[in-house]
Order: sequence, then structure tokens, then C-alpha cells
Amino acid sequence: MTFKKKYGNTALVAGASEGMGAAYAHALASRGLDLVLIARRKGPLEEIAQQIIEQYGVKTLPITCDLADADATQQIIHAIGDMPIDFMVYNAALSYIGPYLATGLSTHTDIAKVNMLTQMGMLHYFGGKMVERGKGGIVIMSSIAGFQGSGYLSTYAATKAFNRVLAEGLWYEWKPKGVDVIACCAGATATPNYINTKPGKASPLEPKPQLPEQVVEECLRKIGTTPSFISGSGNKFVSFLMQHIFSRKKAVEMMGDGMMTMYGIKG
Ligand SMILES: NC(=O)c1ccc[n+]([C@@H]2O[C@H](COP(=O)([O-])OP(=O)(O)OC[C@H]3O[C@@H](n4cnc5c(N)ncnc54)[C@H](OP(=O)(O)O)[C@@H]3O)[C@@H](O)[C@H]2O)c1
Repeated sequence: MTFKKKYGNTALVAGASEGMGAAYAHALASRGLDLVLIARRKGPLEEIAQQIIEQYGVKTLPITCDLADADATQQIIHAIGDMPIDFMVYNAALSYIGPYLATGLSTHTDIAKVNMLTQMGMLHYFGGKMVERGKGGIVIMSSIAGFQGSGYLSTYAATKAFNRVLAEGLWYEWKPKGVDVIACCAGATATPNYINTKPGKASPLEPKPQLPEQVVEECLRKIGTTPSFISGSGNKFVSFLMQHIFSRKKAVEMMGDGMMTMYGIKG
């Protein structure tokens, strides 16, 4: 069965104007799905939408919306109208790098809004509609940073743990109702957002960053087979060491020490 036959005609990608979200948009359009694309910046979003129309001949609906807005889900529902969403990728995330106390509380709460609260609203509405129709697919972007406390990335990493655990719970609840949910736990990936942080090398164990397209293709192959997965063999290996060989204390220390080295942070 083709991907489109299995899931339906229309996909929504939240956080679609660059990086992993743009790669999801291309991958889904190449499978013949029409797209609803969401991001804050109108210019880059419309550029991606136009590229996709020209390259794949599918329809696109770009929606500019800040997912940190308290009514973001309502804004999106209003812009979409009654068009059914058959496949959803919640890709956007806010992050910060640095000491918890050097970052204002409003940044921490914005991270919670984008990475968790709006995600829950969209899962409740669009996931609920998929469950009613007995068909659909949902990707939630998580990160291996969420497998343990990650100093100098503490709030972001905590939301990524939330993303994975929520996706796994919904995978269990919605699988018998015909809706596949998966958490994609990526490691370092060469997106503009990641490259702009100018990361140094954390440790000799650190795998080479993946390309967004590699993460996305692995995810679209895995959905329907597992509640969550770690992208790339290097990340799978390092995560195995961190979760099963080293103690929890050692894993937390290694993450924090790695962040200090990568970004020249003084404790
Ligand atoms: N890159 C990595 O190394 C890495 C590693 C592990 C996990 N991940 C996860 O993979 C996902 C994608 O990461 P990424 O590096 O591609 O970049 P990202 O910065 O998380 O996402 C970029 C996309 O999201 C949009 N976006 C960001 N904040 C938004 C907001 N408040 N409202 C609406 N749209 C928003 C951006 O467009 P606008 O700026 O136009 O809004 C852009 O299209 C995230 O969930 C991240 O946690 C990434």
C-alpha cells in the first residue's frame, strides 16, 4: 500500500519553513500529499510552499502563526476550515543554550508553550479527528537530549522527554483506532537552527551530525512499526551506552560536560 493510500491526502507540518520541517514537507509532497505548512516567517514559508508546488504538483496552504500564542491551535483551525488533516508532523521547537538562570523565565515558558502546550492542543483536535475517521499518522519530533537531564539545555531537554513520552502513550491508545503515532528522537542534525549555534565537538564519542533528509526518511519508514525510535546508527550506539552501560549520574554528567565543551560555557 502506498503512503498516501495508507494515511490520506493532506499533511500538516508545524515548523515547516526550514531544516527538518522543510525536509518533512518535501518528503510528504514527494509521496503525493497536499500540505498545510506552518511557521512564523511568511517569506521563507511561502518560498518553500512555491518550491513544493513546482516540484511535486501538490497543493499547499502556508499559514503564518506563532505556536507560542495561547490561541495558536484556534488560529490554525480557523485558517484550515473543515479540510481534513490526515497526517501531522509537530516539528517546531524553541530552545536556548546556557545556564537556566541566565535565561529569562518568559523564554522558559515560551519553550513550554511551543514544545508542549500547543502541541497538546493540536494533538487533541487533529488527532481527535483522525481517531474519529479511524485513520491517520502523527510524527512528534523529540531528541536524544531528552533521555536524561541535559545541563545548559535543561528546559528544552525536559520538553523533549515530554514529547517522547506523550507520543508513546498516544501510540498505545490510538494504534487500535487506526492512527499511527511516533516520536522521532533525533541527535545532532545539520539544520540552520543547529548550525547557527556554532557547536564545537563535545567528545570523541559524538556522532557526525545527520542530514535532515536522513532523519525524515528513517522516520517515515518507521512510523507504524514502533512508538519511538532514535535516528541514525551513531546516535543509537551512543544512546545505548548512555542508557544501558553508564549510570544515570554518569550520563547526566557527560551531557552537561559535553554542552560546556561544545559551547565554551563556564559553569
Ligand atoms: N537540529 C537538531 O540538531 C535537532 C536534534 C534533535 C532534535 N531536533 C528536533 O527537531 C525539530 C526540528 O529542529 P530544527 O533544528 O529543524 O529547527 P527548529 O528551530 O526546531 O524548527 C525550525 C522550524 O520551526 C519553525 N518555528 C520555530 N519556532 C516556531 C514558533 N514559535 N511558531 C511557529 N513556527 C516556529 C521555524 O520557522 P520560523 O522561524 O519561520 O517560525 C522553522 O520552520 C525540533 O523539534 C527539534 O527539537 C533537532
